[in-house]
Amino acid sequence: MQIGNTELYQIRNGKINPYQDRASIFVKLESQNPTKSIKDRMVYHIVSQARETSSDETTFVSASSGNTGTSLAYFCKQFNFDCIIVTNTKCSEEKINACKEHGAKVIVADSNASPDSDEHYQNMAINLAASNKNYIDLNQYGNKQNPESYFQTLGPEIWEQTEGNLTHFVTGGSTCGTIMGVGKYLKGKTSNLEIILADPFGSSISDFVVGREVISNLGSYVIEGVGKDSIPKLLDRELVNSVITIKDQEAIDMCHKLRSYEGLNLGGSSGLNIMAAVKLASKLPKDSKSKIVTIGCDSGDKYQSKIYNENWLKSNDFSSI
Ligand SMILES: Cc1ncc(COP(=O)(O)O)c(C=O)c1O
Repeated sequence: MQIGNTELYQIRNGKINPYQDRASIFVKLESQNPTKSIKDRMVYHIVSQARETSSDETTFVSASSGNTGTSLAYFCKQFNFDCIIVTNTKCSEEKINACKEHGAKVIVADSNASPDSDEHYQNMAINLAASNKNYIDLNQYGNKQNPESYFQTLGPEIWEQTEGNLTHFVTGGSTCGTIMGVGKYLKGKTSNLEIILADPFGSSISDFVVGREVISNLGSYVIEGVGKDSIPKLLDRELVNSVITIKDQEAIDMCHKLRSYEGLNLGGSSGLNIMAAVKLASKLPKDSKSKIVTIGCDSGDKYQSKIYNENWLKSNDFSSI
């Protein structure tokens, strides 16, 4: 079992990045982690430390859009802990099934529940964890060990693999652990680097970052694992230089293009990230020799019933390529 040390893949196909004269785009393939997502880094970091203070009775609880849940279920099984995952109706069947296959109990909340109601999946997990002294809440939305895990592993890997030669880091956020941990590490290495948040059109995070009024439930988007209807506690907007918003269809199109032209099998948030990187590249000066790094957050295997399914695309009014 290897966590991290994933490949940094360069996009070379001009149909995906037609702006190679402006910027090269590199994707960190976090889909290569044991449960095929970036979350293995964070979950392993937290659970392996929590083991020292836990008992045989310990049950880990987590709110998750699916990947953290799968990862937590996987490590709980390895370390012999019980596990309860609270997700919502937006989570793909593949991710729910993966949590169950690793032995977790899964509770599915309504994805339309308001962020301040007890029915919201994050609040359900908090209340559940508080109801039993043997429950430990992973608390990925408030736990400083979340960004710390990326600061300690993902940031240094990106720095070494690019030999310190990168100009922009672009990624989406949910807990914002990735953008904060990697962003802090890389900015500590070079102040010339720009950190850019890629956000689904309709998410509240980008409005908060640029200082616009934040409205909960601003809009709905189907891309899983990124964007939020509230402000992530771990987000320090001072670290973020700018934001790029991406529509669902743009992210979905990018996923299909990555499969066809690069043979990359990635999930919707990776499509969103890479689309944001391409939009950024289009705006950079010619011959600027910019190097953009972004994240392939998880595997396309987790979305066969959704963004890679013709019927699902049609019934949700998306076109496929
Ligand atoms: C598929 C996917 N992409 C991206 C992210 C965002 O990562 P972070 O929570 O570190 O902001 C998540 C988080 O749940 C995710 O599941």
